[in-house]
Amino acid sequence: MKFNTKLIHAGISEDQSTGAVSMPIYRASTYHQKKVGGNPDWEYSRSGNPTRAAVEKLIADLEQGVAGFAFASGSAAIHTVFSLFSAGDHVIVGNDVYGGTFRLINQVLKRFGLTFTTVDMQDLSQVEAAIKDNTVAVYFETPTNPLLKIADINAVASLAKQHGLKTIVDNTFATPYNQNPLVLGADIVVHSATKYLGGHSDLVAGLAVTNDEKLAEQIGFLQNSIGSVLGPDDSWLLQRGIKTLGARMRVHHENAAAIVDVLKNDAHVAKVYYPGDPDFAGYEVAKKQMNHFGAMISFELQSGLDPKQFVEQLQIIDLAESLGGIESLIEIPAVMTHGAIPRDIRLASGIKDELIRLSVGIEDQEDLVEDIQQSLAKL
Ligand SMILES: Cc1ncc(COP(=O)(O)O)c(C=O)c1O
Repeated sequence: MKFNTKLIHAGISEDQSTGAVSMPIYRASTYHQKKVGGNPDWEYSRSGNPTRAAVEKLIADLEQGVAGFAFASGSAAIHTVFSLFSAGDHVIVGNDVYGGTFRLINQVLKRFGLTFTTVDMQDLSQVEAAIKDNTVAVYFETPTNPLLKIADINAVASLAKQHGLKTIVDNTFATPYNQNPLVLGADIVVHSATKYLGGHSDLVAGLAVTNDEKLAEQIGFLQNSIGSVLGPDDSWLLQRGIKTLGARMRVHHENAAAIVDVLKNDAHVAKVYYPGDPDFAGYEVAKKQMNHFGAMISFELQSGLDPKQFVEQLQIIDLAESLGGIESLIEIPAVMTHGAIPRDIRLASGIKDELIRLSVGIEDQEDLVEDIQQSLAKL
């Protein structure tokens, strides 16, 4: 099956008992057991729910793993995956990650005795230098949020494997449409499914997938023990969203390419960050490991121009946190999505106060271009 067919027919795409082509929403919290200790397929909905199982099997197929797990948010997925590790363990983390992941690591997980070193994942020598006797894993995003930095997944995973470390990749920005980290050597993939997978800005969800049976068993145990599972209604909504991922991504990509062109040729714009731009540092690696470059763009205006004025003057593109929805969303990471990162650390990792992040939607391209141009012209 090819990818777009898989989106619609992989996983558990219809109800086994009725043939309904849309998986029903099973709201039951518990299931009638025929006898004591009979080991039934379904017993309690935290441990397993048919609607959730359908979307879990679907993401496992799309990421080419052996098992998928659905959570109440991307952060819940990341938290559960980090719960594989114990006090005293050390994890190497990319120095450009979503602000909420930075907060989870520094304000929650550190209190439980995990230790972390942040490095620029684009530089393999930095990754190697950070490995200690107690290092257990490498965790990173590629492309990163918000600088779109590209790490070579295969190179990092090979190095990690040599040292017995697990490789965990946040694939939120790329989606399985554009990139399959497990195929490139990673052990676990996580997603904020709130973004492109849900696709319509009407859902908060997270996913994790592994291609290792032992890790699958451990993550399943943690999912049930911690209990931050995705409910059946949201599982259904997520599966419905995923079915149109391919159709949406093709328009996201076309629009993003047109907007990059406009931004790169406008005198008000100082710098554009986009993995599909041949002038961008991560372009060659992105070309090697991604099917397409995605639709997230970051950029900086010329000094003296006010990014707040620019985003507030937009008429179609919404000023909002989040990304990956059908509607174009714009924000200023320093004061919005990455506000949880102290300024000095944020600046050191390259996220300037003036940086603007744009999630390109699937509106008509001409309208988006016109909106950007009218706002730039008023600066
Ligand atoms: C790359 C990335 N990972 C994880 C998350 C967290 O996901 P959620 O907001 O669904 O908890 C986000 C949220 O923006 C994100 O951008």
